[in-house]
Amino acid sequence: MEGFFITFEGPEGAGKTTQVKMLEPWLAAKQRSCRITREPGGTPLAEKIRNVVKHYNDSSEPVCDKAELLLFAASRAQHVHHLIRRELREGHVVICDRFTDSTLAYQGYARNGDIEFIESLNNYAVEGLVPDLTLLLDLPPANGRMRISYRPETSGMHDRLEAESLTFHEKVRQGYLTLAQKYPERIRVIDAARTPEAIHADITRILEEHYEF
Ligand SMILES: Nc1ncnc2c1ncn2[C@@H]1O[C@H](COP(=O)(O)OP(=O)(O)OP(=O)(O)O)[C@@H](O)[C@H]1O
Ligand SMILES: [Mg+2]
Repeated sequence: MEGFFITFEGPEGAGKTTQVKMLEPWLAAKQRSCRITREPGGTPLAEKIRNVVKHYNDSSEPVCDKAELLLFAASRAQHVHHLIRRELREGHVVICDRFTDSTLAYQGYARNGDIEFIESLNNYAVEGLVPDLTLLLDLPPANGRMRISYRPETSGMHDRLEAESLTFHEKVRQGYLTLAQKYPERIRVIDAARTPEAIHADITRILEEHYEF
């Protein structure tokens, strides 16, 4: 059986990681072997880059926008080359927590980056790999922020991007919605302001009805 590539997108606290964890056993029950990964990160080197991108915080040398963009691209190139391609070739369902659309939403729409350039940089990094399905968990940023402040794993700590203003996160959200309009075949928008179970039910319905899972 051929591999299938699913990406989860959406603002901080939308429930991406929660839904990834709920989807894995559902796929296993359908006898589909599944590989969970995330961006930035996913391989040892890419995880090192993740750590820099998320936590490097030296006021005498702030991470400039271009460096941030290129760090994400470097992490992604490594991840696709050393992991995602192989897993797909071996027939697994690969689920990636954030992917190319995150870069467009954050570094593009929210930081006013050059969208066309970022699209081609993304493409260069992934050598043309496009997700079969992207699940966009849509949520107002204030709502996501509230969830994160309660998240036990991080006890309310914000990383460099999470610490951006609500205005920034509103631009992220609008950026995602613009992408969903641009790529309606690939990106499904899911209302994430509901219970985890309701969101999960939507996701599995999409997989069953449109992708023969
Ligand atoms: N549908 C939901 N309703 C209420 N709370 C939720 C829901 N989904 C997840 N949560 C909780 O909200 C917090 C954030 O969820 P989660 O970590 O899955 O979000 P995320 O999209 O992965 O965030 P990030 O972008 O920071 O990785 C967690 O504490 C989680 O338990
Ligand atoms: Mg997460």
